[in-house]
Amino acid sequence: MTLNITCIPGDGIGPEIVAQAKKVLDKVAEVYGHEMKYTDILMGGASIDACGEPLTDEAIATAKAADAVLMGSIGGNTSTSPWYKLPPEKRPEAGLLKIRKALNLFANLRPAVLYPELRGACPLKEEISAKGFDMLIMRELTGGLYFGERKTIEENGMKKAIDTLTYTEAEIRRIAIKGFEIAMKRRKKVTSVDKANVLDSSRLWRAVVNEVAKDYPEVEVEHMLVDNCAMQLVKDPSQFDVILTENMFGDILSDEASMVTGSIGMLSSASLNDSKFGLYEPSHGSAPDIAGMDIANPIATILSAAMMLRYSFDLDKEADAIEKAVDTVLKDGYRTGDIYSEGCEKVGCTKMGELITERIK
Ligand code: IPM
Ligand code: MG
Repeated sequence: MTLNITCIPGDGIGPEIVAQAKKVLDKVAEVYGHEMKYTDILMGGASIDACGEPLTDEAIATAKAADAVLMGSIGGNTSTSPWYKLPPEKRPEAGLLKIRKALNLFANLRPAVLYPELRGACPLKEEISAKGFDMLIMRELTGGLYFGERKTIEENGMKKAIDTLTYTEAEIRRIAIKGFEIAMKRRKKVTSVDKANVLDSSRLWRAVVNEVAKDYPEVEVEHMLVDNCAMQLVKDPSQFDVILTENMFGDILSDEASMVTGSIGMLSSASLNDSKFGLYEPSHGSAPDIAGMDIANPIATILSAAMMLRYSFDLDKEADAIEKAVDTVLKDGYRTGDIYSEGCEKVGCTKMGELITERIK
């Protein structure tokens, strides 16, 4: 099969980690008889520097024409980079929001898994980490506060900033369906997270989730307030299977969940629309402080490439092969600096990419 993939190397460590993911994909193509066709586009700071804006319409058109998008990371140091002197809509992150909206990528899947080999990196007490955890945060990605009307006005000499949080039933229903569908393939539990004790949008969220739940009688549903969920994530993360939540809550909780794994350099993500199309990227940022030093961990990007094979191309065997190769590399004791522990062998970004590539069977 021919896979048309648009790549966004992006900023910071982005180009290095995408290069390793491509290396792994090329090996998969060789072993399983596929053809990878890559087209690179610019986004974020790289695009600001080259084109004066974080994402051009041509770049969007290129991405739209592909079967899937594989992204590294975008953005720079917010206190020192000149990109952050620009107005908000011209900054690197605006490119990311624009591509999510333009490609209708409303379903953001963020797995947070505690790898047995990396249990020591979990910052929680041993009695909690010993139970292990494997959750998936299903975050709504194109609605809510991120895309509601916003403005800053002046009233009686006083500045006033307004952001609006809007959700329609249809927007809630389509993400809820995605959440239940994925729960059916996992441990069949959905924790829907909201702030229904305060927000109207959350009360509608809860009502629609309950409606959708009727179509999935096998799935256990629970509702949890977002503040409680933030606590439960550190108290007992093993209780979660699928966390289904709106855009802003999902942004915050997914960072918390990734921190709890202690190995954010390992976490992949997928942003999907209603077809097979998706954008795949690591959960971590562009780490400008270590860019170009060949020490970044490419595993999150490589696992994102595996998610891409699974969700956009239905190539489950190939995705399994990548995940297995990553497991084997960890079992063989190789670590990048971020996940290093005593007794292991420390390797750089390129070397880690090679070690995984060699193990693709
Ligand atoms: C994320 C990021 C983005 C978000 C930023 C960079 C706009 O934090 O993907 O979680 O808030 O969605
Ligand atoms: Mg975030």
